[in-house]
Amino acid sequence: MAKFQSLLALLALVPVLVRAQQTVWGQCGGIGWTGATTCASGSVCTEQNAYYSQCLPSSAVPSSAPPTTAPTTAPPTKTSPTTTSPTNSAPSSTATPAPGNPFTGFEWYLSPYYASEVSAAAAQMTGSAAQQAASVANIPTFIWFDQVAKVPQLSTYLADASAQQTSTGQKLIVPIVVYDLPDRDCAAAASNGEFTIQDNGQANYENYIDQIAAAVAQYPDVRVVAIIEPDSLANLVTNLSVAECSAAETTYKTCITYALQQLAAVGVYMYMDAGHAGWLGWPANLSPAAELFAQMYVAGGSSPFIRGLATNVANYNALVAATPDPITQGNPNYDEQLYINALAPMLQQQGFSAQFVVEQARSGVQNIRQQWGDWCNVKGAGFGTQPTTNTGNSLIDAIVWVKPGGESDGTSNTSAARYDYHCGLSDADQPSPEAGTWFQEYFQTLVSQANPPIPA
Ligand SMILES: *[C@@H]1O[C@H](CO)[C@@H](O)[C@H](O)[C@H]1NC(C)=O
Ligand SMILES: *[C@@H]1O[C@H](CO)[C@@H](O)[C@H](O)[C@H]1NC(C)=O
Repeated sequence: MAKFQSLLALLALVPVLVRAQQTVWGQCGGIGWTGATTCASGSVCTEQNAYYSQCLPSSAVPSSAPPTTAPTTAPPTKTSPTTTSPTNSAPSSTATPAPGNPFTGFEWYLSPYYASEVSAAAAQMTGSAAQQAASVANIPTFIWFDQVAKVPQLSTYLADASAQQTSTGQKLIVPIVVYDLPDRDCAAAASNGEFTIQDNGQANYENYIDQIAAAVAQYPDVRVVAIIEPDSLANLVTNLSVAECSAAETTYKTCITYALQQLAAVGVYMYMDAGHAGWLGWPANLSPAAELFAQMYVAGGSSPFIRGLATNVANYNALVAATPDPITQGNPNYDEQLYINALAPMLQQQGFSAQFVVEQARSGVQNIRQQWGDWCNVKGAGFGTQPTTNTGNSLIDAIVWVKPGGESDGTSNTSAARYDYHCGLSDADQPSPEAGTWFQEYFQTLVSQANPPIPA
């Protein structure tokens, strides 16, 4: 709570501190913004989303083509650019990780953007439900970087976290999701990635990673934890029969290797996405999955910053199911803990002593799906166990909220270009808006069905 108050205090102070012009990287607009709306010379006020416009250096303002250079104020750390062989371009890591659980002793940095979405949502509600809804803004949620144009916000958040640390003395961790592979979502009915392999995808991705690494390097006092590329490696384990996935295999591996190496070099603690129990937890998938993750760990330089794996991202599985959901029938690993306990020894055999983080943001209510593979805005879901390092399992560093609860998984509009049939299934809440946009009714259900309940 104190943390949230300090955030509010900071947000309240900003308009007072800014004069007529906002400085580079500062906020310059968005719903509820009352500060300066013009930017210092050499920068341009650029809308990132309805709640947030930011003064970007003129050279970094995204045009219709993806930017090919890092922002001028972010010092590039890479000395020998290459587009063919990331293993040769890895900077030698100067950072050394602290031993043990990277979350211990740290508080979470709260995403101001998610807080603004939640506040706007709570303002549409009444009574105790509105109070509970508002307090969701105090619960830490990962920040997704699913477009290169969003990366400049990372500098803003890191600067904010650094300032909060200085004023409170409490160390903060900024949780991010790295999610911008070329030909992303290779097995999805409607992929929504911005980069394609055909159109310079690998180089664009490396530029995206370079910008993240440059931002992190500017704030060495702030700890960053990253989940690396949801669904991508899991697709390479089970979905190579899909033409888009087999065509993307080499590029995915090259790009993820690049991300692991560059982010390890600036001290980011990383968890590669490992699907969930209903995907890689099937006995036949465990061993090929362990092999691939261990291979990526080695390709990433076996860095201790490659802490382990993330499971259940944006999914609905229980960490520990009271009884198996009938849809899990046939899989002895019917919850995330069983999956992790089965996978970890196989990883260890391959030299990868992986630790885990497990998403529980929307896992509060179980037995609500018709098929285990259903993932789109599943009806009746409630917020689950709140983030904690008290996980009851020494393999699990933290229970986390990765999916910003209330943001839609995809549209149910069958005429939309990005329509995926999963969002039209009978267990998907409808009508639903486009992926990533706010879904008020869904958020209200997550709050009312939360288990444990959200404190008012
Ligand atoms: C991807 O793999 C999962 C798990 O085996 C499977 O359920 C799904 O149908 C596959 N997707 C496609 C498009 O084949
Ligand atoms: C569904 O998508 C189509 C195509 O983009 C659009 O014209 C239509 O207005 C959308 N319908 C709804 C209800 O949003």
